Amino acid sequence: MRISARAQAIAPFLAMEFAKRAAALEAQGRQVIRMNIGEPDFGAPPAVLRAAQQVARDTPLAYTGALGLPALREAIADFYQRAHGVRVDAQRVVVTAGASAALLLATAALVDPGDEVLVADPSYPCNRQLLAGFGAQVRLVPTDAASRFQLDSRLVRQHWGERTRGLMIATPSNPTGTSVPWPELQAICEFAGRQGAWRVVDEIYLDLADGDGAGAGGAPRSVLAADDQALVINSFSKYFGMTGWRLGWCVVPQPLVQAVERLAQNYYICASTLAQHSALQCFSEESIAVCEQRRAEFVARRSLVLQGLRQAGLDVPVLPDGAFYVYVDVASTGLDSMRFCERALEEAGVALTPGHDFGDCSAQRHVRLSYAASREQLQQGLERLGEFVRRLRA
Ligand SMILES: Cc1ncc(COP(=O)(O)O)c(C=O)c1O
Repeated sequence: MRISARAQAIAPFLAMEFAKRAAALEAQGRQVIRMNIGEPDFGAPPAVLRAAQQVARDTPLAYTGALGLPALREAIADFYQRAHGVRVDAQRVVVTAGASAALLLATAALVDPGDEVLVADPSYPCNRQLLAGFGAQVRLVPTDAASRFQLDSRLVRQHWGERTRGLMIATPSNPTGTSVPWPELQAICEFAGRQGAWRVVDEIYLDLADGDGAGAGGAPRSVLAADDQALVINSFSKYFGMTGWRLGWCVVPQPLVQAVERLAQNYYICASTLAQHSALQCFSEESIAVCEQRRAEFVARRSLVLQGLRQAGLDVPVLPDGAFYVYVDVASTGLDSMRFCERALEEAGVALTPGHDFGDCSAQRHVRLSYAASREQLQQGLERLGEFVRRLRA
């Protein structure tokens, strides 16, 4: 059978590939500590689980409209007002099958073949693959510790070209856990807006962030507070701990709503009805209190992980301020990050993700560690990692 050039060109998502290898080792009886996937270990808030049981029992679970359950779209809009002080019209909220489907819809709605799109290197790998799948020229902008591995307005101007039509940002970021400082985010969006370009801002980790990325604390701010023409991506996967429920959303500029609706109708009809009804409970006082406790737990896990990495003599060039990832420099071990991850998995039973997943520019020296696992697992993983590094250096 002939496989399309597009399918042949798509690179594997290495975090998932390492998860597969970890599962294969576990099937052989090895115990693997998984620090490769960004998947909170808590699961959905209890009120959501209770609702799911009731909904499964009492509801026929028919399709919903492609834009999502009206009550859920209202609840999400209301959450922007309560959590971020931003008024969002529920008509602009589109409920999707995870942030992944929101990114798919955004790309399909905005990209024409040949359009150039700016993306930070390193950044979330699926964006590049989606963009390339729709014929975009992905311009990877090399970043370093000076801009906390994020785009800033200087880099955006420097790399802007004749054919640049848009940019994609995730703040806080995967794989580095760092945010674009608020004034920079404003400046980037303002500049892109002046060029008539679109901006997709992925805020999937926003509600786990320490503040507005400028180091001054305060509540994390949605880009919508500054730029209501940005297309914002979000999800129930991370803050609400609902990865496998496959539920997310995007807030799209009004002129895009109908196009996005047609795309969603054709691509997947609607997001899971069971998940949508259950997710209404995410916004109850009880669930938000649970999620806030979990947020505090992630802060404790971050301290534990940073201390463990220091003890192992591994360098962390930028400290994360939001997403539960640390971008660790392993160059001092003498191993390329891919080899480091392969050997850490095989020899120490620790699953990590090589930097190669996230770009090119310093991929070979960085690995991503996810601290979404429990403290016990992290403690054990760090001990194993420390011993592994000592053996490498001996
Ligand atoms: C930045 C970013 N965007 C989108 C996604 C996809 O998330 P979802 O589970 O909502 O599809 C992830 C998953 O890790 C991510 O890190």
